[in-house]
Amino acid sequence: MSDLKTALGEAAAAAFAAEGLSAEFGRVTASDRPDLADFQCNGALAAAKAAKANPRDIATRVVERLKTDPRLASVEIAGPGFINFKLADAALSERANTLADDPRAGSETVAAQRRVVVDYGGPNVAKPMHVGHLRASIIGESIKRLFRYRGDQVWGDAHFGDWGFQMGLLIVALGDEGRGEPFMAEGEGPFPSESPVSIEDLERLYPAAAARAKEDTEFRDRARKATMALQAGRPGYRALWKHMHDVSMAALKRDFGALDVHFDLWNGESDADPLIPDMVEDLKRKGLAVPDQGALVVHVAREDDKRKLPPLLVLSSEGSAMYGTTDVATILQRRREQDAQLMLYVVDARQADHFEQVFRTACLAGYAEEGSLDHLGFGTMNGADGKPFKTRAGGVLKLGDLIEMAREKARARLHEAGLGEDLPPAEFEDIAHKVAVSALKFSDLSNYRGTSYVFDLDRFTSFEGKTGPYLLYQAVRIKSLLRKAEGEGAAAGAIAVTEPAERDLVLTLDAFETALSEAYDKRAPNFIAEHAYRVAQSFSKFYAACPVLAAGHETTRPSRLRLVETTLKQLLIALELLGIGVPERM
Ligand code: ARG
Repeated sequence: MSDLKTALGEAAAAAFAAEGLSAEFGRVTASDRPDLADFQCNGALAAAKAAKANPRDIATRVVERLKTDPRLASVEIAGPGFINFKLADAALSERANTLADDPRAGSETVAAQRRVVVDYGGPNVAKPMHVGHLRASIIGESIKRLFRYRGDQVWGDAHFGDWGFQMGLLIVALGDEGRGEPFMAEGEGPFPSESPVSIEDLERLYPAAAARAKEDTEFRDRARKATMALQAGRPGYRALWKHMHDVSMAALKRDFGALDVHFDLWNGESDADPLIPDMVEDLKRKGLAVPDQGALVVHVAREDDKRKLPPLLVLSSEGSAMYGTTDVATILQRRREQDAQLMLYVVDARQADHFEQVFRTACLAGYAEEGSLDHLGFGTMNGADGKPFKTRAGGVLKLGDLIEMAREKARARLHEAGLGEDLPPAEFEDIAHKVAVSALKFSDLSNYRGTSYVFDLDRFTSFEGKTGPYLLYQAVRIKSLLRKAEGEGAAAGAIAVTEPAERDLVLTLDAFETALSEAYDKRAPNFIAEHAYRVAQSFSKFYAACPVLAAGHETTRPSRLRLVETTLKQLLIALELLGIGVPERM
């Protein structure tokens, strides 16, 4: 079942081929002039150049062959040799009915399904999530949903930052407060099953300890030793570590849950630890890991690098495994446990060098094939000053606080618009939450992930313009229209397109597959966001121009109802792929 653009492209390709020209010239795109045509083909110009012929002559011959196609109302030459297509109403109606019958609303699945791990979110023990984790969560969740919807087998993994120096810092900081007994003792235990620390303790201890370690070398050394002892398996430290791990995870899950972000795996950096000793031996044996000033490194720079890439640090001079070491070991783990063929890392673009080091090491060692590892970097969310977003006081904003801020704004926006006020308070709260999440997610996902954008809650929460709340509002309008139709006993029937606004809506819906495949191939959800916005806009124009419930009950009303249902189905799929939930009413 192909979309109209593809079907026309095939017809045009055949026409070019029949004229002895390359079928590739038959590429068809949406028209630049929707007032004149639905689709266009510019191939005659390129074909003429290649054949040193007149473009209008070629276009005339191709058009002659396409003229009899019953799907076309007209096919004409414009300007120097563009071919303009206008579809027959019957062809648009047929396509609309196909979309209406299709539970996937015209979107396809991939032919070859793969096993894919999406590594995103990137939360850390003891560090509250801040706005930097927002993009990782939002984009990663959407990528996960998209890949799964296209038919791949997908695992979302939080890759919990629960290992390394930060754990040593916490252990030592807690001990210095005279707390954490009996976990600090060297023996075998047993150790209390009750956590000696709360999330508040951890959030207070970590920043202070990190700052102190920068100045105080004695403190830093003790933290390093504690890290090593933890990694070497000291029972008290391990038991304490487990408490800090669990306490953090519970708090993190709350924030992620509020954003409707859910992981299939909560594997931590620590889970890759058991693989490290053998892996280090293997890297040495292969001649890849070499000593360097007391540490162990893998040189990954290449002759043709534009910038010199530093080596991957495998073991520090104290013998501790580093961030990159756990990442390489995690690749092995994912090969073993998920048999993953593709690993996507949705992480801040500023970690590009880190991933380049890790990926090169994994490929050199034969742990992964070229192309099976991809860092989907993203830009930063900036403040009005163009720098990464900070609170007014200059600190980093906690994710939980950001969500509450957006919710507060959403409530105000709803009141302003007089929406949801007559609904029960719990439902109003749920709507405000959904509006807030849609605002945060859509404003993020409507930008190409590599671009940075400015945080502007006023604009993000508006019910007008290219925003999440605008999309929710349109979806809710459709829902309420359909509820009303049901109440009136109005039934949907076969779609018969006649009005320009109906044609436009069907053409918009027809482009769904193109948008999804582009998002999938480029690993960039903004194509879905853009499509969802177009659907909402086309619907809004349609609704203004074409009465639905008041239309002729014989054929027009059933046709329009079916078209409206189809629009809602596709819009909801798109929003679901963006991770945006829609209320029943507002
Ligand atoms: N925890 C890391 C951080 O906060 C991000 C982890 C990203 N994923 C990975 N496999 N390294 O920077």
